[in-house]
Amino acid sequence: MKALITGGAGFIGSHLAEYLLAGGHDVIALDNLATGSLDNLSAVSDHPRLRYISGSVLDEDLVDTLASQVDTIFHLAAAVGSFVIRDRTLASLRTNIHGTEHVLAAAHRHQVRVLIASSSEIYGKNTKIGLREDDDRVIGSPLLHRWSYSEAKAVDESLTRAYVTELDLRAVIVRLFNTVGPRQSGRYGMVIPRFVTQALAGEPLTVFGTGEQVRCFCHVLDVVPALVALVEHPEAYGTAVNVGSSEQVSIRELADRVLALTGSASGIVQMSYEEGIGPGYEDLQRRVPDCSRAHELIGFRPTRTLDDILRSVIAERSRPGLATAVS
Ligand SMILES: NC(=O)c1ccc[n+]([C@@H]2O[C@H](COP(=O)([O-])OP(=O)(O)OC[C@H]3O[C@@H](n4cnc5c(N)ncnc54)[C@H](O)[C@@H]3O)[C@@H](O)[C@H]2O)c1
Repeated sequence: MKALITGGAGFIGSHLAEYLLAGGHDVIALDNLATGSLDNLSAVSDHPRLRYISGSVLDEDLVDTLASQVDTIFHLAAAVGSFVIRDRTLASLRTNIHGTEHVLAAAHRHQVRVLIASSSEIYGKNTKIGLREDDDRVIGSPLLHRWSYSEAKAVDESLTRAYVTELDLRAVIVRLFNTVGPRQSGRYGMVIPRFVTQALAGEPLTVFGTGEQVRCFCHVLDVVPALVALVEHPEAYGTAVNVGSSEQVSIRELADRVLALTGSASGIVQMSYEEGIGPGYEDLQRRVPDCSRAHELIGFRPTRTLDDILRSVIAERSRPGLATAVS
């Protein structure tokens, strides 16, 4: 495979780059380092089959040139994280809509297969246990910045579907549920790195809302092989596929587990979303996927538990100098 990974210096993108290089593939990583970091690629920075390109998916000519050099695109570049969407709503919409348009158009021009990273945010406030790909979206007002990420990803999905049905593009949409593990930054609102960093620093863990909201966390090393298997699977083209874990945990329980596993006595403080993220934020009570489509297509089954995930993040952040550097 000759792969282009947009967002290749990001959390998931860098793990994907390592996985592909280990499998003997060629990788071009395109990133503008908005939320990514070259440190994420440090383990492979000298690899002869890795080429890093500094640039944006908003640069249509650059995306076209890179697409002409590969046979597969993993489109992971996006404005991500509730703090990013809150602070740069307009730029985030542009990246998440126009960036994807450029990738799809270039993939079509050069007959390259493509994976589009979408999100469980698509389902909005639908609290069904076991969300399936054809379930309804339950979305708040488009005037709340909170929903603009979900809206942009939905536009991306509709564009992708139209490219497949009208123009025969080979494209799969993957709806990632909370994907976590080493290298994920806590700076932009992600809960596990934030809790672990707080616990190790002896600061109280800040739980937004009641803490009763339920999430399922999947280790990035379970997710990455699924991305590769799905882009290689012709039956996946034109569909959306949930990828995530179904091990449920409330955010309050998550905070307790982080405290127990780090041995930290820093405690927990609860704060409203208004205080923690600012006005215009609505939370979701529950987000639990049904991943039977991914299982049927590629045999997907996460193997790592939440405790495995927490231990791997704690180990990473306990290394000297790292807890603050990657917070
Ligand atoms: N991590 C999760 O839980 C999760 C859940 C659902 C969906 N996703 C999706 O997975 C993808 C990867 O997310 P991640 O968790 O690795 O986050 P991340 O922030 O680490 O990765 C996004 C990468 O895109 C880069 N980027 C942003 N704008 C860009 C631009 N204009 N041009 C080039 N690069 C740009 C960033 O610098 C970063 O490296 C995203 O599309 C995201 O929406 C992630």
